[in-house]
Amino acid sequence: MSFERMWRDLAPVGHSSATGGYRRSPFGSAERECAAWFEEECARRSLDLERDGNGNVVAWWRPDQADSAGAAGVVTGSHFDSVHDGGAYDGPLGVLSALAALDLLRERSFTPSRPIGVASFVEEEGSRFGVACLGSRLLAGSLDPERAHELRDDDGIFLLDAMSSAGLHPSLGSSGLLDDVDCFVELHVEQGRDLVERDAAIGVASAIWPHGRYRFDFIGEANHAGTTLMEDRHDPMLTYAMTALAANKQARLAGARATFGRVDVRPNATNAVPSEVTAWLDARAATSRELEELTAEVTRLGTERAGRDGTRVVVSEESSSAPVRFDEGLAGRIATQPGGESWPVIPTMAGHDAGVLSAAGVPTAMLFVRNPTGVSHSPDEFAEWVDCEAGVVALADTLQRLTS
Ligand code: GLV
Ligand code: MN
Ligand code: MN
Repeated sequence: MSFERMWRDLAPVGHSSATGGYRRSPFGSAERECAAWFEEECARRSLDLERDGNGNVVAWWRPDQADSAGAAGVVTGSHFDSVHDGGAYDGPLGVLSALAALDLLRERSFTPSRPIGVASFVEEEGSRFGVACLGSRLLAGSLDPERAHELRDDDGIFLLDAMSSAGLHPSLGSSGLLDDVDCFVELHVEQGRDLVERDAAIGVASAIWPHGRYRFDFIGEANHAGTTLMEDRHDPMLTYAMTALAANKQARLAGARATFGRVDVRPNATNAVPSEVTAWLDARAATSRELEELTAEVTRLGTERAGRDGTRVVVSEESSSAPVRFDEGLAGRIATQPGGESWPVIPTMAGHDAGVLSAAGVPTAMLFVRNPTGVSHSPDEFAEWVDCEAGVVALADTLQRLTS
């Protein structure tokens, strides 16, 4: 299977031997190496590449049949970018499986009745510019390009400049790249242990929890760590620490999720009371209302604590994703196997480009491949070869059914 060769090709790209994790930051050298590799693989297969001004790419296999002319296509794919020190599978598994599925369809001498596209979206993780699924949001018109023009990374580099430095010719906004699409199917490594518990290699997504990312600026007063009396401090680190504890407690009480996974401290000196702490909250819940209540409560508790610490807290939303309910008919059709057996249909708490496209009105489905560790966004993310191969076959079968 071509999957194994492709996987070995990409394995060293962006891999840190120090941590065992992947560092494929959007528009950085490793992620661009993946993007260039993708374009070469598409050229090897004589696929027609279409790029948009947001950095997204779709490679089309257009059958030569007269009756397919003008037919809306079926698109599959995912992303190459990773969180900092992330795993190998989140994103690349979907793109490589898509190319391998095309190879398998060709080996079967199958000719689709309509075009099949393989997509690669940019900045899915929001790890550099803060907005989750940035590429697909721009493409689908669900993010105001004016807002995207303002986005900067931690070094103050604007999105447009990062893209230009990577050799792209950016023109941000709704791109029409997926206008002519009948449906989208994203294959992804599972990011939990649901399939392990069900003893199933493959699953189909039913829904995605709503999700928000919020920036918390805790503002205090820098001072000397030795000479400043404990009573005289305005220490934003304390306000942050109490807010992080409150977020964890409130999420547990609500059956939701809350994570402060990123912190920036100024001046960041061992012997100085900090002047400012910026921390980013990732919050998710079963419904939008529960998510709103959770973030409102964390904000209220943080603000109350700031009053006691003599600090201030300013909260701003960086991105929000509404709940997604994937097309039930499509999920059912994909899950039902010819032998009568069915793949499990399961919800996820992780965000995906598929969710953005679904919210934009594209009939969308997702296939999950079992992850025995259940761990994701970490070097421990994993899928067995045999399950990756089952994923390629599942995707090929799905594409074949959708384009027969
Ligand atoms: C993406 O993987 C997310 O859920 O944050
Ligand atoms: Mn992903
Ligand atoms: Mn991810």
